[in-house]
Amino acid sequence: MDINNLQRENIKNLKPYSTARDEYKGQASVFLDANENSYGSPLGKNYNRYPDPLQLDLKDAISKIKGVPIENTFLGNGSDEAIDLLYRAFCEPGKDNVIILPPTYGMYEVSANINNVEIRKVNLLPSFQLDLEGIAEAIDENTKLIFICSPNNPTGNSIIRTDIETVLANFKGLVIIDEAYINYAKQRTFINELTEYPNLVVMQTFSKAWGLAALRLGTAFAARPVIDILNKVKPPYNINQATQDIALEALGNIAQVNDWIKITVEQREQLSGYLRNLKMVKKVHPSDANFILVEVDEALNTYNALVEQGIILRDRSKVTLCEGCLRITVGTEKENETLLNAMKSIENKN
Ligand SMILES: Cc1ncc(COP(=O)(O)O)c(C=O)c1O
Repeated sequence: MDINNLQRENIKNLKPYSTARDEYKGQASVFLDANENSYGSPLGKNYNRYPDPLQLDLKDAISKIKGVPIENTFLGNGSDEAIDLLYRAFCEPGKDNVIILPPTYGMYEVSANINNVEIRKVNLLPSFQLDLEGIAEAIDENTKLIFICSPNNPTGNSIIRTDIETVLANFKGLVIIDEAYINYAKQRTFINELTEYPNLVVMQTFSKAWGLAALRLGTAFAARPVIDILNKVKPPYNINQATQDIALEALGNIAQVNDWIKITVEQREQLSGYLRNLKMVKKVHPSDANFILVEVDEALNTYNALVEQGIILRDRSKVTLCEGCLRITVGTEKENETLLNAMKSIENKN
């Protein structure tokens, strides 16, 4: 499979922006090339200088943790930037199409709409697994991307691995596996399969288990040709220096992150158990993520009653296959207890 032939014609021919620092080789100490403030920044740090466009120090640290080489790693301003760039690099507006598998993460659709790219929806089966026949039928010669979210948001389940492998082996475009919640899952990541599949893109993010949603840092791991295309299309300085510095520091604290993952998974199981005992709860869907999809009586009324008590859940009750469901992020033990008490008090009033 030649990935270069998948990209849009204008991207194939694109001469990317060349930054001032790309254009020399060797040692230098006087930088008068980028119209920066040579006196410094009010913060006393190096913030007067443009950041490394390829974020090599940060990628090196990520590579040591993930075991994926730097040249197979792309960093985006959140995974949301990687999603948008995949559309811009590979999908011809008004001509190409992509396949998404509802119910799933909303940005795949929004980003397609922004880029004027046709969406073909193949709903998950009632088991929340892939409809492989439906996917095969939806594919045509203009289908460029298939987004598979695993564990899936908002349903919480992981997608059966062999089903993902079937799509990867048979589809001639890119298969994007969004692993935003992989740290909470029993399922293994796909980042170790990059050499096997030239069309595999694995997205992960620092916004969930790593606790850095405010920084806006997402990763896309893929074979070299895909990464080279994303780097060509991205804004030159898409990851700012403060994010690079802070993320590098955070990567040194993996023990804390692993502790939080363990506690969150324990809390998820405990909270799921308590929710199952509530009268208003019809179904607690099993979760491999840090949230739980729960079917309740009168979802909207329950949602509103909780808002009145200052507790915000995600109302998914109008979403395909999630009718009557609320999505609950697993909080701290105390937050989960507050939620359960509030739900009990609502039950007692009705
Ligand atoms: C499945 C999935 N992918 C990606 C994201 C967004 O990630 P980021 O914060 O890195 O843009 C989310 C956020 O909720 C998500 O649920």
